[in-house]
Amino acid sequence: MSTTETTASGVGPVEGAAVYNVDNPAPLIEAPRKRTKKTPKSTRGNFELAAWLFMRLSGIVLVVLVIGHLVIQLVLDGGVSKVGFAFVAGRWASPWWQVWDLAMLWLAMLHGANGLRTVINDYAERPASRMWLKALLYTATVWTILLGTLVIFTFDPNIR
Ligand code: HEM
Repeated sequence: MSTTETTASGVGPVEGAAVYNVDNPAPLIEAPRKRTKKTPKSTRGNFELAAWLFMRLSGIVLVVLVIGHLVIQLVLDGGVSKVGFAFVAGRWASPWWQVWDLAMLWLAMLHGANGLRTVINDYAERPASRMWLKALLYTATVWTILLGTLVIFTFDPNIR
């Protein structure tokens, strides 16, 4: 069969494009990063699957938390001009808003950090760059989550 005939699927080839078959195999495209002898044999179990699922589920919950947050902070009761120390103190007097803000903090940080972990794994080519960028990312993430959690639970409206 010449390279311009109609294929068995009945779909005509793009003009000028090669039709690949047993006698005319498509060229192999190499993987962007090849496995070498140093590549660990064992995988990390189902961690990446769990991380993938977490991004979707946390994203759905974040839509509710973030849009609710924006509406309360920026739209209702006179908009952003009402936001100040007294407003925050009033909101955090309620366990409901403490838990809301805590969930938003944890989910946004873990979602954002996991997303950046993916970006680093995809784009930082040298193993040392990947290691250092992720070390920085994890340090910043843990630090921010700890500080934020501490602030939500130890906030004192009577501070002078
Ligand atoms: C508001 C609701 C949000 C939804 C529905 C959402 C949804 C998603 C989904 C489904 C992914 C995975 C994309 C993929 O695997 O190709 C993703 C990736 C990501 N998200 Fe979110 N997200 C939200 C909020 C946030 C927030 C608040 C942050 C930052 C703190 C964030 C940072 C990221 C980053 C850095 C990535 C990785 C991007 C990439 O892989 O190219 N997202 N998001």
